[in-house]
Amino acid sequence: MSAKEQWATRVGLVLAMAGNAVGLGNFLRFPAQAAQNGGGTFLIPYLISFALMGIPLLWVEWAIGRHGGIYGHHSTPGMFHVMGDKGWLKYIGVFGIFTNLTIAAYYCYIESWTLSYVFHSLIGTFAQTEPKVFFPNYLGETADSLFAFPLEAGCWFLLTLALNIWILSKGLAKGIEMAAKIGMPLLVIFAAVLVVRGLMLDAGDPGVVQSPLDGLNFVWNPKLEGLTQPTTWLAAAGQIFFTLSLGMGAIHCYASYVSKRSDIALNAASAGWMNEFVEVVLGGSLLIPIATAYMGLAAVQSATAGGGGFSLGFLSLPTLFNNWGWFAPIAGALWFGLLFFAGITSSLAMGQPIMAYFQDEHQMNRRNSALIFGASTMILGLFCVWLYPGGAFDEFDFWSGTFSLVIFALLEVFIFSYVFGIDKGWKEITRGADIHVPRIFRFIIKYVTPVFILVVFIGALIQPAEGNWAQAFRSLFSGDGWPLAANSVIGKLFHVGVDSAWFTPEGRGTKVLVQDMTRLLLFSLFAGIAVMVYFDFRKKGGSR
Ligand code: ALA
Repeated sequence: MSAKEQWATRVGLVLAMAGNAVGLGNFLRFPAQAAQNGGGTFLIPYLISFALMGIPLLWVEWAIGRHGGIYGHHSTPGMFHVMGDKGWLKYIGVFGIFTNLTIAAYYCYIESWTLSYVFHSLIGTFAQTEPKVFFPNYLGETADSLFAFPLEAGCWFLLTLALNIWILSKGLAKGIEMAAKIGMPLLVIFAAVLVVRGLMLDAGDPGVVQSPLDGLNFVWNPKLEGLTQPTTWLAAAGQIFFTLSLGMGAIHCYASYVSKRSDIALNAASAGWMNEFVEVVLGGSLLIPIATAYMGLAAVQSATAGGGGFSLGFLSLPTLFNNWGWFAPIAGALWFGLLFFAGITSSLAMGQPIMAYFQDEHQMNRRNSALIFGASTMILGLFCVWLYPGGAFDEFDFWSGTFSLVIFALLEVFIFSYVFGIDKGWKEITRGADIHVPRIFRFIIKYVTPVFILVVFIGALIQPAEGNWAQAFRSLFSGDGWPLAANSVIGKLFHVGVDSAWFTPEGRGTKVLVQDMTRLLLFSLFAGIAVMVYFDFRKKGGSR
């Protein structure tokens, strides 16, 4: 039973929490977001979002988690159920099951690419075949039909998932904590080796077109212009959510295994700062500087435009490593190995809340709950593997990995301050604290963070075409309407700017068909989890 489980050591807890946060987001998403949003221009909104939203939400989530754990709840439906006497609170917790499960499904798929790329780097595949040719094949994008299944990718996915389930089934201390204690130091060492090697590149080396320091300068030199650009704020806030694993229900779960009087204030801040160190210092010094050295800064900026960060990391870097002679396969294995460790310590954190739900609410043992998580992630994940070329993966990433996080965070911060009550909430955060939590954060949590998230949410909902807000308002006031961006939430929902037919004239399924199938799946899953919560809590008669 999960109620009896606890962290073996404080170091293990902080490393597991940092491992939860440190992920592919730090090494792939952050550099790409920074590059797309003007490098140093991105940095100031990013750091302000960390202070006004990231740190306060970390404290709120740790506090909700530890409070729930006291009542024997280690997943969010139960945790929210005990935050007040309103029957609807438990349904807010459905988000914490839904997002973890659905993000785990597509996240394990990316994780499996990293494992497969370690293998392919070591056997020298990328010395023979350009990743730009290899990767689309691997993903099934070159098949005749959107509905063909990529066999190799599917096998690596199943292997990666099996590894996750195996570690999870060993429990908190022997599984997750051990994986973090091994994975996190290795990841930092691998990253440090590559950073040093990358920054040593200079003009005389074969293939080098620009100094890597120009790339570093681009990411790290703060510029004030970003402060007035709503699109940069949106991107910065979105990155803070993703990288700290906020609004997912994963932090709540880990924190629920902390005892009532133990510190959470310092632990939360330490894990958060550790993530920022890995993201800004290591993540910021790796991909962009190396790519800049070989491709030039302008090419790096256009390579990241629209393509997340995944294209630079998976398509360009293995080719660039070929300039490093005998070190190339090792560099590839280090890069994809570090991504793998970053990924697995995050996906374990997505599995534990699902297992905890079944352990707490269905009295299931660890092994069976790990199998339930594995089976459901397998079904959802194979759906992403199968329909990746049709865009199922992107749908998961958007609706679960971006949109749901913001909604859940918005709801939880309101509930924390106004239903649970900020007085009780503040006591929860500061009980047993090993640091003095500045009182200004009470004000920030109650007023600033909710408004901040609300603005981000509305911004994402109605983001205008090309991110040009001034132009959009001019258009609205002159009676021409609001020019909605295709990638705004409403734009996506209604397929703005694309032909929304499900079938081609030849009767073949289109991407829109895949997108709508995926949305139906996600919506049904959410509804299904809500129904399960209804029955599980009805059985208990609503008792705490
Ligand atoms: N926080 C995790 C990451 O950055 C999900 O990848």
